Amino acid sequence: MSRHDPTAQPENPGRATFLRWVGGAAVGSVLAPVARAVEAGAPGDRVLTGTDPADGRSRHTGRFPQPAVAAGVMARRPIGATGETLPVIGCGTYRTFDIDDADRSERVAVVRTLVDAGGSVIDSSPMYGSAERVVGDVLAASGLRDQVFVATKVWTRGREQGIAQMEASMRALQVSRVDLMQIHNLVDWRTQLKTLQDWKASGRIRYLGITHYTPGAHDDLIAVMREVQIDAVQLNYAANDRAAEQRLLPFAAERGVAVIVNQPFGGGGLLRQLSNKPLPGFAAELQCENWAQLLLKFVIAHPAVTCAIPGTSSARHMQSNAQAGFGPPIDRAMAQRIAQAVRSAA
Ligand SMILES: NC(=O)c1ccc[n+]([C@@H]2O[C@H](COP(=O)([O-])OP(=O)(O)OC[C@H]3O[C@@H](n4cnc5c(N)ncnc54)[C@H](OP(=O)(O)O)[C@@H]3O)[C@@H](O)[C@H]2O)c1
Repeated sequence: MSRHDPTAQPENPGRATFLRWVGGAAVGSVLAPVARAVEAGAPGDRVLTGTDPADGRSRHTGRFPQPAVAAGVMARRPIGATGETLPVIGCGTYRTFDIDDADRSERVAVVRTLVDAGGSVIDSSPMYGSAERVVGDVLAASGLRDQVFVATKVWTRGREQGIAQMEASMRALQVSRVDLMQIHNLVDWRTQLKTLQDWKASGRIRYLGITHYTPGAHDDLIAVMREVQIDAVQLNYAANDRAAEQRLLPFAAERGVAVIVNQPFGGGGLLRQLSNKPLPGFAAELQCENWAQLLLKFVIAHPAVTCAIPGTSSARHMQSNAQAGFGPPIDRAMAQRIAQAVRSAA
């Protein structure tokens, strides 16, 4: 393991934290029904029931098996009711892994640093130029294939084109099975979903999901989740981009859908805005050495969030980012303080 906080409490935030989050007016009025969530079911499970925030009629339940708490390892969150958990910090590859040079050593170091810290999720897409090929080369060169949860996407129209693209992705990634295949930006989602369901049934993919990157698409993501059962939704969420709190995050939680957060640094722009700005005094309390760690703490503080995937090309940044997955979980009041500090500084 690389550097981490030995006092870490890698627990799922649990019902108390969830209710603290969803109960406050500042989070958004549509969350009020979720605040009536009750806990039931097997000991150790967190089961949420509530009224659909969209229509006030149908009820949803979500079961969240609580992962074992262990000291000194990165926090993990469940993938719905599967019993499988994912570490809260992963790595994105948009731009950062889209490189042509033969020297992959820094990207090998990024992935090794992620895995050494207890992380595993790497997210890519055929949209990201050479990124899938670079990830495939890195996994082969490092021998870390079995320790990485590989997520990629299908981003095209048409059944045959989708199949061809996903097969090309698997060749590029040098895998016979993808852990999570997502429909990128919901492109031709009905068509691609059928293939994903078939591939999941035959074991070519383990989980299926959908993604988007803008608040304007959140209603579309909710509409898909209402219509079909998916395993994971990937969405934009950051301390200065909080629209997902209104409906999407609570809805995913109620449905037992894992949430992967893209652009936790606003695509990098938010971090650039914050560079040279002094850290708030409470950063030390949270064992945060920089704004990047505070921004990640904010994102993973939301109990509906399973994993954040900051993109990076730098092993040093990866190590710093991974540290946000250690240390005591923070509550909503502290998350609000982070958002306020970001507002004041950015
Ligand atoms: N529609 C979709 O499905 C969709 C859309 C957008 C993104 N995504 C996924 O989500 C991932 C994350 O989003 P993103 O990469 O666009 O944006 P992001 O994670 O918000 O920001 C990435 C930027 O932050 C910088 N960075 C990372 N760690 C840092 C640190 N500790 N200190 C300073 N700078 C740091 C990176 O530069 P360095 O290389 O210098 O570290 C990079 O420029 C993507 O890579 C992609 O996998 C999916």
